[in-house]
Parts: sequence; C-alpha cells; structure tokens
Amino acid sequence: MLRKTVCIDCAQGPTAVIDGQRKIVFCSNNYLNLANHPKIIGAVTGAMDKYGLGAVASRLLSGTMRPHVELEKKFASLFEKEAALIFPSGWTCNEAVITTIAEKGDLILLDKLDHASIIDAAQSSPAQLRTYRRGKYERLERFLGDDGFEKKFIITESIFSMDGDRADLAKLVELKNKYGAFLIVDEAHALGCMGKTGAGLAQELGLLDEVDIVVGTMSKALGATGGVVASKKVLIELLINKARSFIYTTAPTVANCAAVSEAIDILDSEPQRREKLADNANYLRSGLQELGLNTGNSTTHIIPVIIGEEKDALEVSKRLYDMGFFVPAIRPPTVATGTARLRLSLQSDHTKEQMDSLCDALSGMINDGALAI
Ligand SMILES: Cc1ncc(COP(=O)(O)O)c(C=O)c1O
Repeated sequence: MLRKTVCIDCAQGPTAVIDGQRKIVFCSNNYLNLANHPKIIGAVTGAMDKYGLGAVASRLLSGTMRPHVELEKKFASLFEKEAALIFPSGWTCNEAVITTIAEKGDLILLDKLDHASIIDAAQSSPAQLRTYRRGKYERLERFLGDDGFEKKFIITESIFSMDGDRADLAKLVELKNKYGAFLIVDEAHALGCMGKTGAGLAQELGLLDEVDIVVGTMSKALGATGGVVASKKVLIELLINKARSFIYTTAPTVANCAAVSEAIDILDSEPQRREKLADNANYLRSGLQELGLNTGNSTTHIIPVIIGEEKDALEVSKRLYDMGFFVPAIRPPTVATGTARLRLSLQSDHTKEQMDSLCDALSGMINDGALAI
C-alpha cells in the first residue's frame, strides 16, 4: 500500500483537525507541547520584528545573525560542551559529523537500529562500517579490540525512535574508554525530555562529560526545526570548515532560532512538563500491558505496540482512525519485517481520559478478534 500524507488544519497538540475531523494524536514528537507555547510564539514575533524572517544566505556568507550565535552559546551551555553548531535539520547534523570526521582507515560502529540518518551518513563515509546489537556487547568489543584501524567511533541514539528503549550509555562509555574510541550520541528523542535541565539521557545519567559529540534535533520536543552538534571547539571549527551540509545550505531562519532559544529556557523553568510526560508514558504503557499488548522494551515516552504483519498493523491503524485516533502504522523498511507496529508517542498535555479511550478502543479490537495478543 502506498504511503500518503494527511493534512492538519490547526496548531498541533494532543488533538488536531486532520482532513477536516478532530482526532486524538498519538504520533507526534511534540513531546512537551512546545510547538505552540505562547512564550515561544511571542519570542518568534519579537525576533521577526527586529531581524525579519530568513537569514537569506549560508552561514559563511551573511547568514550568521545574532540569534544564531546566541542559540549556539545556549546549546553549548546546555550540553556542557565548549561549543555548538546548529544545522537545518537533525538529519544534516548526522551527515555532517559522520562524513567529516570518519576517514579512510577508521571504523564506525553502529547500533543495528540506529536512525536512517546515521546509517546513510556512515555508508557514505570512507570509513569501514560494522553494526552491533544493543545488549550483546561481545561483538562490539571484538570490533573495538581490532588494531587494524586508526580511529573508532561508536554512534548510538540515546532513546531509540521506533522502540522507545534506552541505549546502555554507561556500558558504551566503559567500552569507549577501555579501547580509546570516540562516543557520539544522538539525543534526538531525549533532548528536552530527560536530564535535570532537559539535555537528554547522558545528562540524566551524569555522563555528558564522557560523550565526545552530542547530536540533537530541535524538531521534536523543542517544537521547531533544525539540528545541533555540541563538542570541543576544535571539532566545531572542523565542521564549520569542512561539513558540506553546513557550508552549502542557507542558515536556519531567525524565527526558528528565537523559538528554540525560548524553548531551552522553558526546559529549565517548566520541568513539570518532563515529569508529566514520564507519568503519561508510565500510565499508558501499564494500560497497554494490562491488555496483553506487546510494548517491546519501551521505558520512555515512545511506546511501540508490536503487531507483526504489515497488513494487520495497517488495519488496526485504520480502525483507530475511524474511531478518532491518529496513530499511523510503522512498517518495513522503517522496522524489521514481521515487527510492523503502532508507534505511540506521548505528549505532556495528553490527558488520562485520552489515554484511557485509546486503551478502550484497542481492548474492543482485541475482543472482536481484530487485534491478536
Ligand atoms: C534519532 C534521530 N536522529 C535524527 C533525526 C532527524 O532529525 P530531523 O527530523 O531534525 O531531521 C531523527 C528524526 O526522525 C531521529 O529520530
């Protein structure tokens, strides 16, 4: 079945008007409901009054404006790194980092389920590429122990986007130190949602210092769009000089920078959003598990309901849609064959009633045989 888009006709929250009907949305990455936070909208209009909308040039020409510089300082401080650099998207961050630093004679080690942006960048770099499965670190250790490479890079997501489980960052830090490798962590789904000031899983675990390069996206919990890399100054200078997806593209808009700058302040001033998100995730996961549904290894605000066959996942998603829920099916090649699923993502503003009504709908489908457990 061909994939297609739907059209949303309002600001996004736990509900949205989709193709003319209001639905409860369980698939957006607006985890903290910042995409239409009044303070952020105010910051955007204020910045646009002063600077206009677009930066209208690449960063190395006239595209670096005060809001870009200020935002990069804020990100460096959030991630406790010497410097940070913003990009038009999280995708381009991974492309920039991996294709710039990994050279011929190097080895890139990826979690088998790393995001497509990481895999594609690794495949297009001249370094050799190997994968490992999380939890099964003997294979990773074997690769790390191979002396035939110059530099070795372990690259992982912190929270996995389709499974909602966490990388074992403590183990990866132990191994990178043991073998002198570099650790790159993509905090796309944890940024804003975890850690004392919302820097992500590494901050929550007290391991930020051990991560050589942090990648993040402004396109999920921060409610805007764009990506960020934070690391040592020397690495950021290398990216500024060599990363093609930094050099040959127009700078992010001023509006976007103003939005994200305000969002970072809100991460600090409204920690209750993170707490509510975690509470919601625990509540919904328990409800799904009580129904006997397979939520995999999820421990976060991303909860898969693993169904199996693609056609069954599509049918469940369609029936949910007809009952007022927007939860698209996720199917191969995004996930492995035989693991087609619903990928439920929570928002801090979801209510218990909304989560209960989703469980009731799924329970009805289990009872009438449309959903096997
Ligand atoms: C782990 C991970 N990295 C990077 C990206 C890309 O981020 P962006 O949407 O900002 O390009 C995503 C987005 O789906 C992601 O899940």
